[in-house]
Amino acid sequence: MTSVSVDEAMRRAIELAARGLGTTSPNPVVGCVLLDAGGEVVGEGFHAYAGGPHAEIVALAQAGERARGGTAVVTLEPCDHTGRTGPCSLALIQAGVARVVIAVPDPNPVASGGAATLRSAGVRVDTGVRLDEAEAGNVAWLTSMRRGWPYVIWKYAATLDGRSAAADGTSMWITSEAARIDVHALRGTVDAVVVGVGTVLADDPRLTARNLRDGSLAIRQPLRVVVDSAGRTPDDARVRDGAARTWIATAEEVGAGPDGGVDLPALLAALHQRGIRAVLLEGGPRLAGAFLAAGLIDKIVGYVAPRLLGAGPAALVDAGVSTIAEAIDLEFIDVTQIGPDLRITALPRKREG
Ligand SMILES: NC(=O)c1ccc[n+]([C@@H]2O[C@H](COP(=O)([O-])OP(=O)(O)OC[C@H]3O[C@@H](n4cnc5c(N)ncnc54)[C@H](OP(=O)(O)O)[C@@H]3O)[C@@H](O)[C@H]2O)c1
Repeated sequence: MTSVSVDEAMRRAIELAARGLGTTSPNPVVGCVLLDAGGEVVGEGFHAYAGGPHAEIVALAQAGERARGGTAVVTLEPCDHTGRTGPCSLALIQAGVARVVIAVPDPNPVASGGAATLRSAGVRVDTGVRLDEAEAGNVAWLTSMRRGWPYVIWKYAATLDGRSAAADGTSMWITSEAARIDVHALRGTVDAVVVGVGTVLADDPRLTARNLRDGSLAIRQPLRVVVDSAGRTPDDARVRDGAARTWIATAEEVGAGPDGGVDLPALLAALHQRGIRAVLLEGGPRLAGAFLAAGLIDKIVGYVAPRLLGAGPAALVDAGVSTIAEAIDLEFIDVTQIGPDLRITALPRKREG
């Protein structure tokens, strides 16, 4: 076996961490690569699910005695506390690891401190290797831990002329099967899927993550959330079918916002309390408008179909913009063709003042 650089090992650790996306909440995704004293890879691991072994523990188990005098390369600062599992800092010290290379410091006050513990035990600790890449791979968890509410992705489907449904209200299916398969994969990476009651009444969606070809459900289902001030979700709505957990979030339970709808910051705070770190807002246009007007969207994923309707509801309603100077400016970060459709990913630009 040939030796690899710490930088190369971190690239691999970030790749490993991504395997946990969608299954680790409320924990972060973490990857770890263990190099022996000669720089050879002797262990690899990632955190697969909350309550399961941390990435470092998996890698240490693989490495065994070869970890002694070696280097642990890990995407997030090793934890320093005993939760459902013991502190990783201690496990690394006990295994005799000489150096720990960390990409991102842990912002969680409960678990942080691993770097200090390692240093005080004489372990060399370096941080910041491939920092931006590791941050990007863990953006939902890091963002939600830093500010106390989940990372929100607004996903919508529209025609090239920006219509989210036809004039008669029909909206199934604006985009292709390939795009819908992509959406189900996206649902599999989040902890909750959120819609307004208007979408439930119009489309009666299931909102489960499933295989579109055979209908089989993904093992882990996001929490289904209906934002429904007055509790208008029908008893026989598909979201109540028992295929996944569902929360009908009413104004009575969450609190009412200034316009009488469900208070959206309070909704997100309540979701955070439930361990939700990443949310997929799936509409419809009115709820998406309210989220955008409140500055609560972190990322936008738009599926644009090569079709025109010329009439029918817009993809977005009332986002608090009345003049061009108030437009919500975006930065496109990715454009990918999915079957006949385009998937456009954008980030809202921070507003001045
Ligand atoms: N193409 C797409 O991607 C897509 C996705 C979803 C839906 N759609 C289409 O969108 C249409 C439904 O649109 P819609 O705008 O009525 O649906 P919506 O945005 O899903 O629901 C809006 C409703 O949510 C409730 N709500 C509660 N709190 C709110 C708050 N703080 N802010 C805003 N709304 C709040 C309100 O009803 P209460 O006052 O009763 O609580 C409001 O009328 C359907 O035709 C559907 O097919 C398209």
